[in-house]
Amino acid sequence: MKKQKFEFSFEVYDSIDELNEDDRWLLNEARSVTNKAYAPYSNFYVGAAAKLSNAEVVIGSNQENASFPVGICAERVLLGSVSSLYPGTPIETMAVSYQSKVVKSDHPISPCGMCRQALQEYEGRMEKPIRLILGGMEGKVYIIKSASQLLPLAFTSEELE
Ligand code: THU
Repeated sequence: MKKQKFEFSFEVYDSIDELNEDDRWLLNEARSVTNKAYAPYSNFYVGAAAKLSNAEVVIGSNQENASFPVGICAERVLLGSVSSLYPGTPIETMAVSYQSKVVKSDHPISPCGMCRQALQEYEGRMEKPIRLILGGMEGKVYIIKSASQLLPLAFTSEELE
């Protein structure tokens, strides 16, 4: 028997004010995109904004449905838009924020399991890491070098070849 260990480190900032100008701009964009979410069932409004390697910015927000599982998270709405608008274009950085009628938006949230899987596949296809900036409307901000770090031992397309 052999034990293996995953190590993962990320940056923690006390507030958006500590970020560089580009990152601050992208997180503010994600914050304002929360207003485009359609989330009447959870009242949890998520916004995502991504800077692509071609310098374009693409956004996404969660879109819910009365049949609850039909809803789509902000991150996957964004990935679908990027693939449709700029096929084959790597994502450099994606910022994710949220607001809610129920809870305070004062700490970062991180992508759900399904989105981690989708982000991991997009990174694999583009052979480029997606840097994540995670933060609420206020409070600490996390910066993660690559979305795949959030999904150790991932199931990938390589298994199917
Ligand atoms: N949601 C996102 O859009 N992104 C996340 O990172 C976490 C959760 C959405 C899904 C659902 O519409 C609502 O937030 C509450 O779970």
